[in-house]
Amino acid sequence: MNNKQHRRDFIKNSAIIGGSLLLPGKMFANLANSPGSDRKVKLGVIGVGSRGKYLIQIIHSLGEDNPFEIVAVCDNYEPNYQQAIKLVGSKAKAYYDYRKLLETKDLDAVIVATPLYQHAHIVIDALDAGIHVFCEKAMARTLEDTKKMADAHYRTGKILHIGHQRLFDPKYLKGLEMVHQGKLGPITQMRAYWHRNNDWRRKVPADKPELERQINWRLYNEYSCGLMTELASHQIQVANWAKKTMPVSVRGVGSINYWKDGREVYDNVALIYSYADGTQFIYDSMTSNRHYGLQEQIMGPKGTLELETNTYFAENPPKPEKPAGILQLITDIERGIFETVPIGGASWLPETEVKYKGETVAEGKATDGTPEQLKAFAKAVIADKPIPGLFEHGYHASVWTLLGQEAMDNGQVVTLPDFMKLTNTSNQ
Ligand SMILES: NC(=O)c1ccc[n+]([C@@H]2O[C@H](COP(=O)([O-])OP(=O)(O)OC[C@H]3O[C@@H](n4cnc5c(N)ncnc54)[C@H](O)[C@@H]3O)[C@@H](O)[C@H]2O)c1
Repeated sequence: MNNKQHRRDFIKNSAIIGGSLLLPGKMFANLANSPGSDRKVKLGVIGVGSRGKYLIQIIHSLGEDNPFEIVAVCDNYEPNYQQAIKLVGSKAKAYYDYRKLLETKDLDAVIVATPLYQHAHIVIDALDAGIHVFCEKAMARTLEDTKKMADAHYRTGKILHIGHQRLFDPKYLKGLEMVHQGKLGPITQMRAYWHRNNDWRRKVPADKPELERQINWRLYNEYSCGLMTELASHQIQVANWAKKTMPVSVRGVGSINYWKDGREVYDNVALIYSYADGTQFIYDSMTSNRHYGLQEQIMGPKGTLELETNTYFAENPPKPEKPAGILQLITDIERGIFETVPIGGASWLPETEVKYKGETVAEGKATDGTPEQLKAFAKAVIADKPIPGLFEHGYHASVWTLLGQEAMDNGQVVTLPDFMKLTNTSNQ
């Protein structure tokens, strides 16, 4: 796609989404830290597997600040139904069928932490029942379901908060504030990766092999886009946040090159998301090497942010005690690279040799943003008002996650289809 085409797509997209990706970071921090109300949010939790359990534990850990009263839980898998009861005790009602939970009297809100393919119908039923929803990322397995969820949110006016906790994490808030204040100069490139080294499988009871697809839903195309919806969705969200807009196109390749164990989702993906101004977001993820771990890198002519590790690298850092060139020379002599010491040679200060460890972005207690996010959700529920722009931001992260999957599946450059454009929003 040429630059003119990019520009046209950008203008079209900007008109459609208005300012919805211009998320005011400070507001999230304020929301999480401002004084709460005496009223507790009556909460139901649907899906108490790994994430549902974690969210309940975080809610319990909020102590005096806990704005929730968990009044009901639901899981349709017996061991996790029992786990839910153990976690919340006898004060909350437990259900196997989420529709029964939605009938709970005076229920304000639900958390939906079911597998991806089980988000849309539960979320839409909850919104239609007049209940606010916190739905784990990504939104849905298909574009059509994602759009139906958006329509239900606008139709009912009820909150649909998508679980992207980085938006509430102080190190991300501070880092993105630096980006938006121009500390890096204009963003010219972004890179992110999520590398793990394990088979990503959950244990299936030996006497119940028929539960394989239900328990390992992440590994099957019908239920999940694997690395894309489970991991990349978070980092696509961060890239859009940094650029204050969404991409105009995505291309990519995916393969199963290591875990040939019957799984259907790729264990190795590489994509390029392009933005209208020519910025590329280069992404990769795999499950066969963990050396580089997890990172989002935002780069501009004045500096680089590594968000996950809370570090900023100025392009022209404060002077080290010994200049980098001298350090390089000493290193090279020690390694025996030079037979004689060159005087004023042009090639002995490689660009890579920067002995500078960067600067910490945000001080303070480490958090992944989840407690802050839950508290902000509670405040929005009590105010009976969505946080402006937050839903649209989560929507576009989910949509571009699925478009990345489509680009890999079809071997094509993919753009935003017309039917996914938000034209009828009410709370931007
Ligand atoms: N924000 C994050 O960092 C983060 C981290 C992990 C997972 N997640 C998301 O959380 C969601 C759940 O992931 P998980 O790892 O907990 O999966 P999981 O398989 O461990 O848990 C899902 C639970 O939902 C239950 N369930 C399935 N269908 C149901 C239904 N119709 N009614 C009631 N319960 C039902 C299952 O029995 C299971 O207990 C996914 O969308 C995932 O992407 C988000």
